[in-house]
Amino acid sequence: MLQQDPHGTLPVHLAIIMDGNGRWAQARGLSRSEGHRAGAATVRTIVTRCRELGIRYLTLYAFSSENWNRPRAEVTALFSLLLEFLQQEVPLLAEKGISLKVLGDLDGLPLAQRTALRHAIRRTAGGTAMTLNLALNYGSRAELVQAVRSIVREGLPAEAIDEATLAGHLYTAGQPDPDLLIRTSGEQRLSNYLLYQCAYSELYFTPVPWPDFGQEELDAALAVYAGRSRRFGKTQEQIDGS
Ligand code: FPP
Repeated sequence: MLQQDPHGTLPVHLAIIMDGNGRWAQARGLSRSEGHRAGAATVRTIVTRCRELGIRYLTLYAFSSENWNRPRAEVTALFSLLLEFLQQEVPLLAEKGISLKVLGDLDGLPLAQRTALRHAIRRTAGGTAMTLNLALNYGSRAELVQAVRSIVREGLPAEAIDEATLAGHLYTAGQPDPDLLIRTSGEQRLSNYLLYQCAYSELYFTPVPWPDFGQEELDAALAVYAGRSRRFGKTQEQIDGS
């Protein structure tokens, strides 16, 4: 596996809210769908760079449960882009050892996308270099509700339920929490994304819209992250002394 992080300053898990495709397009007199197409090109660049750097988990917010409220044409365009992305990229993902996973309610997606995603998940399952999570039809509160439901269905006694039980029933079961969450395009909110998993994540907001977020922008965010001191509720003295 590629590993270019001898000092351990890279996030193991990077989560991204890819925002600003629409505004990027509008500023250029293009349709919102064309903005998403440019955004899909950025997905390729960022996946490639993360793989190159040795980031082990990359989670991209591709379609939230609330995105169904967008104009029909835009939703259709987003789903065709997803299909196109899978058709073009899955062989390369498999070759590069990148395993694709979906966070979200797969059953609520259109049949063609659901089928292509299931195929992509199977085809890339052996990849050990990196996990690429696509959050699709995803909402963090709904994720927590489905986790609680499945715990109740399993009949676990209340006293046996701890944080690990809950984490083990989320879509991210078995994965480390994101170390760094990046949101592009100026908004500074979480928008129902990985609320449980990001309890201790470092947050990085940039005004750069997602279609313009290239390798240099990513490297700049990672440099800021490398300079952060993560205390997880402890004092700096406790950390220095341990
Ligand atoms: C936010 O921009 C972006 C989305 C809602 C979807 C993200 C989708 C892509 C990057 C393209 C397809 C993805 C894959 C995995 C192929 P926005 O429309 O909310 O922008 P705005 O806030 O400027 O309107």
